[in-house]
Amino acid sequence: MRKIYLVGFMGCGKSVVGRQLSYALRLPFYDMDKEIVRQQGMSIPEIFEKFGEEYFRNLETEFLKNFRDEACIIATGGGVAMRQENRQIMRRTGLIFFLDASFEDIYKRIKNDKNRPIAQRSTKKELERLYYYRRKFYKRAAHIRVFTKDRTIRQVVNYIVFQVNRLKGEC
Ligand code: S3P
Repeated sequence: MRKIYLVGFMGCGKSVVGRQLSYALRLPFYDMDKEIVRQQGMSIPEIFEKFGEEYFRNLETEFLKNFRDEACIIATGGGVAMRQENRQIMRRTGLIFFLDASFEDIYKRIKNDKNRPIAQRSTKKELERLYYYRRKFYKRAAHIRVFTKDRTIRQVVNYIVFQVNRLKGEC
């Protein structure tokens, strides 16, 4: 088994689930946004403001291309699965889980988050439209969809562990 990627909309729980999964599977965990912030020495809103969204998207692709070749868990940013190139890299190098949360749950978590420029600059309607637009890309990227509604983090983690063990020989 190689990498485990978590994809899904902002606020679907990729980072929280990724950290717990890291304990359960005894694999290192990386949060892509945090890695990019560290590499650039700037926050995500600063990168968006200074260099624009396209520049940030290119950093995401570079991260996927160059990240070390080790078995690990990676929580991707919410826009990563939009690019075909990114989906191809992830599918070639690991197993992809789509954390499928409801828009209402997501909205509650992201609406006041100053660290998410897209949430900051959009209305609720716009975010909802983006959420539905992006779903097809998450589904296209993922090997497995994980419904998170009415499930605890532990239940979500246990389900992913079960699927990883089941698919171990195949990836
Ligand atoms: C983004 C999601 C964020 C971060 C950036 C852009 C997006 O990551 O990469 O703000 O386009 O959905 P999270 O999904 O971790 O919030």
